[in-house]
Amino acid sequence: MQRKNTDSLVFMAPMAGITDRPFRSIIHDCGEGNLISEMVAVNAIQRKNPKSYKIADVRPENYPVTVQMVGNSPELFAEAAKFIYELGAAALDINMGCPVKKIINNNSGSALMKDTCLAAKIIEATVKATPLKVSVKFRKGWDNEHVNAVDFAKMCEQSGASRITIHGRTRAQGYSGFADWNIIAEAKSAVKIPVIGNGDIDSAKKAKEMMQKYGVDGVMVGRALLGNPWLLNKIHHFLETGEELKNPNTADIKEMLLRHLELLVEYYGERNGLSVSRKHIGWYVKSLYEAKRFREQYTKLVVYDEAVDLINNFFAKVEE
Ligand SMILES: Cc1cc2nc3c(=O)[nH]c(=O)nc-3n(C[C@H](O)[C@H](O)[C@H](O)COP(=O)(O)O)c2cc1C
Repeated sequence: MQRKNTDSLVFMAPMAGITDRPFRSIIHDCGEGNLISEMVAVNAIQRKNPKSYKIADVRPENYPVTVQMVGNSPELFAEAAKFIYELGAAALDINMGCPVKKIINNNSGSALMKDTCLAAKIIEATVKATPLKVSVKFRKGWDNEHVNAVDFAKMCEQSGASRITIHGRTRAQGYSGFADWNIIAEAKSAVKIPVIGNGDIDSAKKAKEMMQKYGVDGVMVGRALLGNPWLLNKIHHFLETGEELKNPNTADIKEMLLRHLELLVEYYGERNGLSVSRKHIGWYVKSLYEAKRFREQYTKLVVYDEAVDLINNFFAKVEE
């Protein structure tokens, strides 16, 4: 199996329910960008849970994909890492930032920022398990009284992580408020391994600002990719050349949306694929005329051909 490099400085953020194989493929086709899976639970992978297996199985993809793992047991991380390595991952990432209750109640995700001893053991065990590089993604801290991103970054480095990504919000913030880019800069100056900045990047200019003013080695983009898979390539191009690529026109959006739908149906089957496509379709068309009515009609459809017809009719009207 060919292992490829994952050396782009512009990263797709892992997003459960979103960064699946179809979406990665779409972003890959747009050009540059470092791709990552949805998070996969190490205990579910060990039980060979079919859904987790499908998430971790990146063999059909002819470009490098990092697989993100979540859990709380160093032993299970090591086992899962070996398994995921065999399934073709180009690199491994450990989730130490997820704020969701189900995850933190299990002492996983951002809960590990409160248990740095366990976090260190998990990183060490994962690093030892395979030849793959291991990165860690975490937050500013648990809450405003427990901001420990700088010490956590040092711990990651000492435990063998080859790179870290910091989302500049605390667990208590969830996704609200603003990401604190200063804490990311502080952590960057405290370690030698590459630091990727994450939180609120929604344009090439903001990405450049994060890189230049805050000194990070790379940027990671999440929510701004929804309905805008062109963005990672636009950022990459702007960082390389200083030139802003044009925004996609309506015809580009239509073509992308149809391609995305086709891939979702291929991957999940007709009914589930259409169901997953609803949120993506909504994001693609949100700024177009009569989008609300189109979305309402789209949500009722369960047949692929009818969905394609509706999309074609909608864009014919938009383009009139
Ligand atoms: C719907 C959704 C799902 C997410 N799932 C994950 C995940 O599985 N693993 C993870 O590390 N972060 C996850 N995140 C957090 C993002 O990776 C990212 O850190 C966060 O959205 C901040 O970046 P942004 O401001 O560019 O969106 C998720 C975020 C969203 C909105």
